[in-house]
Amino acid sequence: MTNSLTFPILKVLADGRFHSGEALAQHFDVTRATIWNALQDAEALGIEIFSVRGRGYKLPEPIVMLDKQAILSSIGEQRAWFNVEVHDHLESTNTYLMKKAASGAAHATCIVASLQTKGRGRRGRAWQAGLGNSLTFSLLWRFQSGAAALSGLSLAIGVALIRALNEIGIQAAQLKWPNDVLVNYQKLAGILIELQGDMDGPSAAVIGIGINLKLPEHLKRHIDQAATDMKTLTGQDIDPNLILGVLLKHLGDVLKDFEKDGFEILREEWLHYHAYQDKPVRLLMPDGRELQGQVNGVGLDGILLVQTAQGEQRFSAGEISLRGSIA
Ligand code: BTN
Repeated sequence: MTNSLTFPILKVLADGRFHSGEALAQHFDVTRATIWNALQDAEALGIEIFSVRGRGYKLPEPIVMLDKQAILSSIGEQRAWFNVEVHDHLESTNTYLMKKAASGAAHATCIVASLQTKGRGRRGRAWQAGLGNSLTFSLLWRFQSGAAALSGLSLAIGVALIRALNEIGIQAAQLKWPNDVLVNYQKLAGILIELQGDMDGPSAAVIGIGINLKLPEHLKRHIDQAATDMKTLTGQDIDPNLILGVLLKHLGDVLKDFEKDGFEILREEWLHYHAYQDKPVRLLMPDGRELQGQVNGVGLDGILLVQTAQGEQRFSAGEISLRGSIA
């Protein structure tokens, strides 16, 4: 359990300036030792804090903290669709929301965490992110149909991400099957979808999304593929509240279309942003085999179509990993 003062203090330090132990103690009406203890807890969570005798404490850089009102106002008119919960710290927003979904959480519940310490990625990977490095959230969407009808869902979510990135000024984003978002073949965002319910319905999807905001070099070195972030792409600190609001709006639109017409209606748009269309690729199978071919595109159900020496083969998202000869 994190000390209850840790995140309130971090919110004061979010301006990136020095705050003396004494001023913080006065502000929170506690002793300087209590402030020190709370910041020790922050360090235990991997948050770097500079502490300089005579000047106080500061974060390495300013951070824009999450704020529910700012998220809602960025969603705009569709804000009433969503039930947004902002958390300071969770191990994984997907794990948290999967549990909550199983005990009846409302449709369109969005869980967002300022700090996620055990973020999960596809194929058993971790999603690495310290405070302010990444926007990490999960959205619960309940479907009348069963899990069997959701095969193209992860690709549909990729389309929502591209629309949102376009709206906030990132035009060069592309999609890598099934659903990574790349800019210049470097990963900007990842999607992890977990399903609950029956094959014939109803079912529920927990849609987890991580977007790199500002990756420090030491974190980039721990990521096992080329990665980029919003700061590098725009030269600015983009407000995570703004991105989340814009994204939720597009997610809502895309999910409603998907519910009605399936992936089919979004397929052309997906292909327009496809980073590997007609490109040579290697596919790594769960059993370690490797297959080579050229990507023909995706089917109406989101299946990847690859031209191989044995003819066109179809792959469903599952555990397959796609590698381009470029990235
Ligand atoms: C991938 O690229 O492998 C998918 C990464 C998904 C990461 C997000 S961050 C929010 C949500 N909670 C998690 O534990 N994972 C997803």
